[in-house]
Amino acid sequence: MNNIIINGNVSKGTINKNIYGQFTEHLGRCVYEGIYVKDEDNIPNVNGIRKDVMKALKDIEVPVVRWPGGCFADTYHWKDGIGPKEQRKTIVNTNWGGVTEDNSFGTHEFMEFAKQLGCDVYLSGNVGSGTVQELSDWIEYCNMGGISPMANLRRENGQDEPWNVKYWGIGNEAWGCGGNMRAEYYADETRKFSTYMRNYDNEHPIYKIASGSNGPDYNWTKTVCEKAGNMIDAITFHHYTVTYDWEHKGKATGFTSDEYYRLLHNTLKMNQMVENHSNIIKQYETDKHKIGLIIDEWGTWFEVEDGTNPGFLYQQNTIRDAILAGINLNIFNNHCDTVVMTNIAQMINVLQAMILTEGEKMVLTPTYYVYYLFKKHMDAHHLESYVDSDILNDAEELKVPRLTVSASEKDGKATVTVVNLSENEESDVNVMLTGLKATAVCGQCVTGNTGDFNSFENPDVVGLTKVDAVLSTDGMSFTAKLPKSSVCSFEVTLA
Ligand code: AHR
Repeated sequence: MNNIIINGNVSKGTINKNIYGQFTEHLGRCVYEGIYVKDEDNIPNVNGIRKDVMKALKDIEVPVVRWPGGCFADTYHWKDGIGPKEQRKTIVNTNWGGVTEDNSFGTHEFMEFAKQLGCDVYLSGNVGSGTVQELSDWIEYCNMGGISPMANLRRENGQDEPWNVKYWGIGNEAWGCGGNMRAEYYADETRKFSTYMRNYDNEHPIYKIASGSNGPDYNWTKTVCEKAGNMIDAITFHHYTVTYDWEHKGKATGFTSDEYYRLLHNTLKMNQMVENHSNIIKQYETDKHKIGLIIDEWGTWFEVEDGTNPGFLYQQNTIRDAILAGINLNIFNNHCDTVVMTNIAQMINVLQAMILTEGEKMVLTPTYYVYYLFKKHMDAHHLESYVDSDILNDAEELKVPRLTVSASEKDGKATVTVVNLSENEESDVNVMLTGLKATAVCGQCVTGNTGDFNSFENPDVVGLTKVDAVLSTDGMSFTAKLPKSSVCSFEVTLA
């Protein structure tokens, strides 16, 4: 029996709903075809936004979406994507496949998507190849309510009211595709850009997000926070999980048992990275000025599916991806005192996607179902949890804990999410509640063989299954048998 303790008396605060954010880039079929369809595509849509995709995204209550990149953001000139479509400039997407970008999906179309979804937006500004004036103008275009050149232009393009966009990124991967800058240089750029990122409405202040490090590059975080920390609200970092290394990312399907554990072992490094970045950031905070930590790109990155454009980053998504999502979301929940947002990469048809599409067909991935199971954590009161279970495997590079967990409480119910990393063993758990008393408990899991996935031919191989949970007579604990390789969520009704 594995023991889990949920402590109702100890908390790290509120789990920011934005931890469940998504990332969409002009990359492959994420925006075009995934979200937005052109007239000739003949796929049911409302103002170009796919109806089937919109319904699926609403069901997981996506809180915030980052756009337009990624690397694309630092080549994007937002004025190319406004005004009459036939007059919009055509550019080459030099980062992703060298395809022609007709700019038919621009600011207004993205805001229409966000309106239909009811989510917040996070716009990544162009620092690498853009100007301070451009980013300053974009903010004025989106947020100025009165009379001004940019507000007037917005009205000419059909939008009277400002959108009051809160989240603004100051470039993306400034150390790489965003300009190959040194941390010191980027810190100065951040100070300059931040100066001209104005608030147009004191009731809707903007939130400035500095481009962060490549995984565990702590010097980047330290330098940017030290030199520009007083001019930003948050700093990010990116961490993708590959099976071996960047030259040997591994396959999304058809992997071995070793590769299953190796990938999970690698993704667990996220925990240390979150703690180290958080500890650095804390040194540059004051009582009056907090700096949030955002992981605005994370997830699996495998070799592309055979026969697909290598620049489109299209990969299948298995139970292994679901386990990896559950592990990371538990880590983020358990660090909700510093992690204010995360954006998994990417929402549709790219990397670790929620949704895959092919023409008018759509499938929901195992990762999608994890977001469905975890959604009750959004804006809930975090509860400390402890796991007493064994470590799987002897080889160092394959070692993983059997279980990971996080818990929260909202509206008289506790949510306990547990990941069983074992590839082939069920795990009995005894969940002890301290400072809490339950009157009922029910559970649901995403589970299967580690390599199971949903395809267009077989879209329902992976879904949600019920799992029995037995409540003790005193309401102080419950037991359950977690299926092998599963991500489970228990909803506990509190007395
Ligand atoms: O998500 C794909 C790419 O990964 C993004 O464009 C970039 O920021 C990162 O390197």
